[in-house]
Amino acid sequence: MTPVLQVNDLRVYFNTPRAVVKAVDDVSFSLNAGERFGLIGESGSGKSTIALAIMRLLRAPGEVKSGEVLLDGENLLTLSDAEMRRRRLSSVAMVTQGAMNSLNPVIRIRQQFADGLNSHGMNLSKDQAREHLADLLTRVGLKREVADMYPHELSGGMKQRVCIAFAISLRPSLIIADEPTSALDVVVQRQVMQTLRQVQEELGAAVILIGHDMGLMAQFADRIGVLYAGKLVEQGPVRQIFRKPEHPYTRLLMESLPSLEEKETLVGGFGSPPSAAERPRGCVFHPRCPYVMDRCIDIEPVYRQVAPNQWAACHLHDEADSSGMESPLTPLKEARS
Ligand SMILES: Nc1ncnc2c1ncn2[C@@H]1O[C@H](COP(=O)(O)OP(=O)(O)O)[C@@H](O)[C@H]1O
Ligand SMILES: [Mg+2]
Repeated sequence: MTPVLQVNDLRVYFNTPRAVVKAVDDVSFSLNAGERFGLIGESGSGKSTIALAIMRLLRAPGEVKSGEVLLDGENLLTLSDAEMRRRRLSSVAMVTQGAMNSLNPVIRIRQQFADGLNSHGMNLSKDQAREHLADLLTRVGLKREVADMYPHELSGGMKQRVCIAFAISLRPSLIIADEPTSALDVVVQRQVMQTLRQVQEELGAAVILIGHDMGLMAQFADRIGVLYAGKLVEQGPVRQIFRKPEHPYTRLLMESLPSLEEKETLVGGFGSPPSAAERPRGCVFHPRCPYVMDRCIDIEPVYRQVAPNQWAACHLHDEADSSGMESPLTPLKEARS
């Protein structure tokens, strides 16, 4: 099966007056049709930069230095601006945390949809447009009457549903959801995520869900990729990674799950992530790694397969590689004591 999306060796740099910020460094992943891929990492790890690079919505000083973004086999990075505009919404659509604020508060939902679809050359009759919008609204759990409302009459959760309806209006093969529910309270968050999952399944669209919440990822994603300081440090099926993370950073993210109390100890104990402008030499994670060894300080680990469908970049796997031995990661708590 050919993947819907292939991101190959993507590098995105920000040329700031003070430094060249390597926000995304040599990141590769792919998605099959209908697959849900979770991209997880702390704030500043490069998640949104990847999304914007795929959508071709990066702004200066951000610049794609190298790499390919193949959507249905076509490299988005080499399309003309006009061609890319046509692909947005019809082939790849994005829902962001702030999407609901991008709705114009003084224009009815119906009109905003009509404007969006017209700009894509969809010439629907009035009746067709009415039915199309009613169908979309129902799909995201809203009443068809919402079409005639103004965004300011809707709650945050409802507005975010409208944005999901808009994102699926031209049946894209890929939806990028960048922290789509972060601005909502927990109960609404769960409901909106369920809706996203339902429409995604109905459409058979692939989804990249971006977030920092392991719990949410576990519920939604089939596979996850763990991003740290612009590097993909681990990737694999979500159940497998939960059972057996093979990168110490992923392990830390897991261990931060059970209780808030523990989470605080972890954050306190492991310091803050590096600024992308001063990325450490060797392994990017070595300054915070409980397993750090000499070679981690100046040799960058190889990103390699560590289990079926699972990849990680960590020197702990150097020996495992040649001897075929079991996972070299001992339980974290033992290693720390
Ligand atoms: N406009 C910009 N100018 C300079 N650096 C930027 C800009 N936007 C993002 N960055 C840097 O790129 C890195 C990744 O940012 P971002 O992709 O927004 O992270 P995330 O979405 O994971 O929180 C950060 O270190 C940030 O400082
Ligand atoms: Mg972000």
